[in-house]
Formats: sequence, structure tokens, C-alpha cells
Amino acid sequence: MIEFNNVSKYYKSNVGLDNVTVHINEGDFVFLVGPSGAGKSTFIKLILKEIEPDKGTIKVRGEDITRLKKSGIPKLRRNVGIVFQDFRLLPKKTVYENVAFAMEIIHQPKRLIKKYVPQVLSMMGISESAGKYPDELSAGEQQRVAIARAIVNRPKILIADEPTGNLDPDTAWEIMQLLNTINMKGTTILMVTHAKDIVDKMEKRVIAIENGRIVRDEFGMYGYMQALQGTDVTFDTVEVQTRNLFRTRFKRGGGRR
Ligand SMILES: Nc1ncnc2c1ncn2[C@@H]1O[C@H](COP(=O)(O)OP(=O)(O)OP(=O)(O)O)[C@@H](O)[C@H]1O
Ligand SMILES: [Mg+2]
Repeated sequence: MIEFNNVSKYYKSNVGLDNVTVHINEGDFVFLVGPSGAGKSTFIKLILKEIEPDKGTIKVRGEDITRLKKSGIPKLRRNVGIVFQDFRLLPKKTVYENVAFAMEIIHQPKRLIKKYVPQVLSMMGISESAGKYPDELSAGEQQRVAIARAIVNRPKILIADEPTGNLDPDTAWEIMQLLNTINMKGTTILMVTHAKDIVDKMEKRVIAIENGRIVRDEFGMYGYMQALQGTDVTFDTVEVQTRNLFRTRFKRGGGRR
């Protein structure tokens, strides 16, 4: 479904990804974890072809997207839905219009829009809010709208970049149930998160990145001593952060490899 083969991405003085090889299969639910600056967003941007790798190949649904022409990018992105921490809804459109807009911009017929929009709103449990504007909704409701919009064109892959980052624990858990349901219906899910409790509870595949490298790929656990954005810093966190600092310095001195 998604294949990274020896992928490296360098920024001027930083390493984004460093020789990453990883395969995500159709139907997988994968958590991407790691400290700030590890390369998680870089990984996502490469899948969406927002940035290009310096080395290696990336295949999405069997197609090498590093060779894909610009004209092929809209089709790629139609197959990859995306949800963000800050929802990114259009403030002047209603819930219904926000979701419908995702279909309109790819020129779907009105008939299908009328059919699918109510379906996804119902699936996300927000049918009653169809006529409301984003600022009339709770954070959890806004995220449901954002997910509805991301899946209305039936993408094969759904990427969620910290989708629960702005939500209280109960609401976050409701959103996780929805993502789980979407996954059960066949959509491959890749979710970036710092939420240790969620990762541990879900018991899915966890890919951990540090300094652009995959340091762990296994089922079940978040693996860090605490969610690194938390306040109670433990010895392990300090150890990891110190190690990262040294690696960064070393890389800056050494330049590209
Ligand atoms: N446009 C850019 N120019 C230069 N360096 C960048 C750029 N984007 C990212 N980087 C660097 O690349 C590394 C990986 O960044 P990335 O945004 O992928 O991390 P992340 O894992 O998503 O972090 P976070 O959890 O904070 O979102 C970091 O060192 C970052 O500073
Ligand atoms: Mg990021």
C-alpha cells in the first residue's frame, strides 16, 4: 500500500529522513511515533508528494510516486485522505458544505454529493449539526467533520496527524473509535501521535522514528516512558533528548551523508 525503500530526505542543516525502508500493507492501522523533529511530518509530506526525497523510492498503491508527473498529483491525493490536529475547516461554510466541498472540487456529480455527504455525516454521528458553522461546534465535533470530509471521497488511505492533540481524553477516545471503524471498513490508517495512552490501548502496529531513522517497528506499545510533550520529565526522556541533541550536532557538523 505504502512502500518506502531506502528513502532519505535532507533539509539544509537537518536530516528529515535517513535511509528509511518500511512497508505499510493494505488494511493496516499504524501509529507513527517519536520525539519532536524526528521526521514524522516529513514522512507524511513525502506520501502526499508535498516534498521530494533526495534518495530512494516511494510507492503508493504500487505506483512509484517519485516518478509521478505533476498532473498525477491530484489523483494521488484523492486516494489519501488527511486529518490534522487543528481540524482546518472552512469557517464560512456549514458542516454540510465543508464536506460537500471536498466532492465539489473533484467535480463529483450533485447526485453523488447528495447521497454521500449525509451518509458520512451520519457515520460520524454529526447529522444534526449539518447546518451549523464550525465555530458553533465543540472540538470533538469539529474533528468529526474533518474526518467526514477526509473520507467522503472514499480514499484508500487515511492519514491523521495528531488528530486527538486538541481533544480531552474522552473525546479523543471517541475519535479513536471512529478511526477504528473506518479501518475495519478497509481503509488503511496512518496516525501520527504523542498520545501514549491511546497507542497502548489500541494495540496496533507502532513505527517509532528518531532522528529520521526507524528505531522500532512492532505491535502494541508507545514505548517512550511518557508522552514527550508532558511536563513530568523522567530520566528516560532526558536520556533520549540528550542523545538526540548529540546526534543533531554531529549531523550538522558532518553535513549530508
Ligand atoms: N522545511 C524545512 N526546512 C528545514 N528543516 C526542516 C524543514 N522541515 C522539517 N525540518 C527539520 O527536519 C527534521 C524533521 O522534521 P519533522 O517536521 O518531520 O518532524 P516531526 O517528527 O513531524 O516533529 P513534530 O512532532 O514536532 O511535528 C527536524 O529536524 C526539522 O527541524
Ligand atoms: Mg510534525
